Amino acid sequence: MNLLLLCRPGFEPETAAEIADWAARREIAGYPQAERGSGWVRFHDLAAQQENTGADPEEEAGRNTARPALPPRNLIFARQCVRVLADLPQLDPSDRLTPMLAALADTPWRPFGSLIVEHPDSDAARPLAGLARSFGNALRPALRKAGLLSASEDLQQPCLHLCFFSGTHAVLGVSQPRGERIWPQGIPRLRLPKEAPSRSAQKLEEAFQILLRPDEREQWLKPGMSAVDLGAAPGGWSWILTRHHIHVTAIDNGPLADSLLATGLVRHLRADGFSWQPTQPVDWMVCDMVEQPRRVAARMAEWFAHGWCRRAVFNLKLPMKKRHAEVQANLADFHAHCAEAGVAVQTRARQLYHDREEITVLAWS
Ligand SMILES: C[S@@+](CC[C@H](N)C(=O)[O-])C[C@H]1O[C@@H](n2cnc3c(N)ncnc32)[C@H](O)[C@@H]1O
Repeated sequence: MNLLLLCRPGFEPETAAEIADWAARREIAGYPQAERGSGWVRFHDLAAQQENTGADPEEEAGRNTARPALPPRNLIFARQCVRVLADLPQLDPSDRLTPMLAALADTPWRPFGSLIVEHPDSDAARPLAGLARSFGNALRPALRKAGLLSASEDLQQPCLHLCFFSGTHAVLGVSQPRGERIWPQGIPRLRLPKEAPSRSAQKLEEAFQILLRPDEREQWLKPGMSAVDLGAAPGGWSWILTRHHIHVTAIDNGPLADSLLATGLVRHLRADGFSWQPTQPVDWMVCDMVEQPRRVAARMAEWFAHGWCRRAVFNLKLPMKKRHAEVQANLADFHAHCAEAGVAVQTRARQLYHDREEITVLAWS
């Protein structure tokens, strides 16, 4: 299947390396195409280019049988990953709708459950935001009239994506349903309340939005739970936890914001986050200490190996070079260390919108 991936501008090489690895593991012959700073990567599946017909054999087969496979959704560097349904490089600005409806007429996914109209997150593509918004408003009723979009949003069904690269070039694609709204560009729109002790608060909030499923958010973030925040000051992450009425032990030699201490849910300990350990297991451990990723991954694994926490969110800073390979090595070390201790731990990771030179990992046992 041909894919379109959206990522943080500048991280196209990592996104390309990640999707190439994904394809190689599945023995899919193909190659990534990336343009530095563009915020997008295309993956070209060689089987889908056979005889230059442009037809995807898997999709052809899918018309008569079950729906073809949907793209992966748990990639680290890709905020959005869609299976390409049609590339429309020469749209007429006076009628963009007709060729889109024609391209979707035979799609095996009709009716789609929802529609996202978006554009890459680059400086060059950002002016397309107005077009994406207004065209989405025109496209939605036209799709419904053609029976291509469910009458009301159905988040259990695949989502139709329209990604504008310019006013005359767009790609139509399909992504896996998530059981909740998919954000345009894969970027949750979060507000930062003024009481938040730091902007970092948005990072943990985004991690909960992106890395947890809705049912996990409900079951795993409950009032009365306990958490440890390693490297907590000034307290944005702890503050997010207190918004879920979770009791937090905040570890940092630096001071915490008064607004955080005023919640009555936070105990501040001035200690070293790499050596401090809890006397009782906690539901959550979160860690935002700025340190070598290998050292952080090893310490996080110790927490799981000793059963000190059930779930964790932590950051891994990215090196200057070979960032995809280094992330894979850090995660492999983390899993190996947990497995040696006989603890089965799962992870999901993402370079969040609020992550610059780092990724955020969710781990749970
Ligand atoms: C990026 S800031 C954390 C911001 C915090 N998550 C928030 O939302 O406000 C990193 C913090 O880690 C703390 N830190 C770094 N190394 C540490 C260590 N070994 N033990 C405890 N805290 C540490 C620093 O003092 C700093 O306050």
